[in-house]
Amino acid sequence: MRTTTLSKETFHSQTLPPKHILDNLVTSVLVVTPKLNLAYLNPAAEELFSVSARRVVGQPLTWLLAAGDDLLTSLNQALIQWHPITERELSLVLHNQNSLKADCRVMPVAHPIIGDYLLVEITQVDRQLRITREETLLSQQHATQALLRGLAHEVKNPLGGIRGAAQLLSKQLDSFELNEYIQVIIDEADRLRNLVDRMLLPNTLPRKAQTNIHFILERVYALASAENKNGPTIKRDYDPSLPDLLADPDQLIQAVLNVVRNAVQALAGNGEITLRTRSQRRFTIGNTMHRLVLQIDIIDNGPGIDPAIKQNIFFPLISGRAEGTGLGLSIAQSLINQHNGLIECESEPGHTCFSIFLPVTTEPNDHDQ
Ligand SMILES: Nc1ncnc2c1ncn2[C@@H]1O[C@H](COP(=O)(O)OP(=O)(O)OP(=O)(O)O)[C@@H](O)[C@H]1O
Ligand SMILES: [Mg+2]
Repeated sequence: MRTTTLSKETFHSQTLPPKHILDNLVTSVLVVTPKLNLAYLNPAAEELFSVSARRVVGQPLTWLLAAGDDLLTSLNQALIQWHPITERELSLVLHNQNSLKADCRVMPVAHPIIGDYLLVEITQVDRQLRITREETLLSQQHATQALLRGLAHEVKNPLGGIRGAAQLLSKQLDSFELNEYIQVIIDEADRLRNLVDRMLLPNTLPRKAQTNIHFILERVYALASAENKNGPTIKRDYDPSLPDLLADPDQLIQAVLNVVRNAVQALAGNGEITLRTRSQRRFTIGNTMHRLVLQIDIIDNGPGIDPAIKQNIFFPLISGRAEGTGLGLSIAQSLINQHNGLIECESEPGHTCFSIFLPVTTEPNDHDQ
């Protein structure tokens, strides 16, 4: 093994690859001296370990990882054997006692100028699973929307014909009783057309403007409270520092209201709903990484989603209620998709949480990449 001369300063002045490349990686990267002190960590690693590089660079690695952690063992092994080590699904115990699963690669590097160091790459496995799940979710949504659009056109054309023919027939018939039957045909055709129109929503592009997320939630709060005077308590837990985002306020109100209405219905007058806002930095939706994403959680302490339909609640016409059309969540999902966002849900008896993620963008259709 070579002797080390690596220090914080030499690493930053001599570093390869250029720092801006490491800074923009989604993978967490650490540079560690042979004495297991931290020489560098990129922003992804800062986020992963919830620390600031300024505080920890120059400090022992045990500032990030609990003593005896498996990664420390791998680093020591890589140093002794002077050989790259790849560990899959390592359970990392962090300095704050939180733990996470990650794939880790430790690479010993001998640099002619700055000496020896260990390059450590960490990819959180839970996060990968989440991205894969989101990609599947988004492609399912697109397929469903395409199917619905095709189906709706096929249904609407003959429906117009049936309704028109019924109207013509009613003009030819004098019998009041027969006219009543014809009115049933017309009413049912109208009901079916309304259903198909709802399924096709939204048929207009969002009209985006600078929008405050709390303005949206306060409107939903007012509407839901007015609709349910004796309904459940609705609490608000807002992060007031969140910036505005470019969005269509009417569409977002509609999306959040659909979710809140479901919670109200599930609670049947008892219990509590919480509207919560938070921000997420460097957050991936589908395969796009956004610098800043706003998170809206709609939480209720009701009975939870019926396990029989839990996997499919975002599909149209899936309902657990006798009088439900099963369109509320599918519409909410389309509206959120129009904003390049994501809606997901976790539910167990006593705790159901729908989370809406909206990227903060400055330009229409800007993916903030
Ligand atoms: N917070 C919740 N708690 C328990 N079940 C829920 C909750 N939110 C949704 N669900 C279940 O998901 C189903 C689908 O919801 P969705 O809003 O799509 O349709 P719906 O409410 O049945 O009908 P619609 O909204 O079109 O009137 C609901 O019928 C209900 O069974
Ligand atoms: Mg609903």
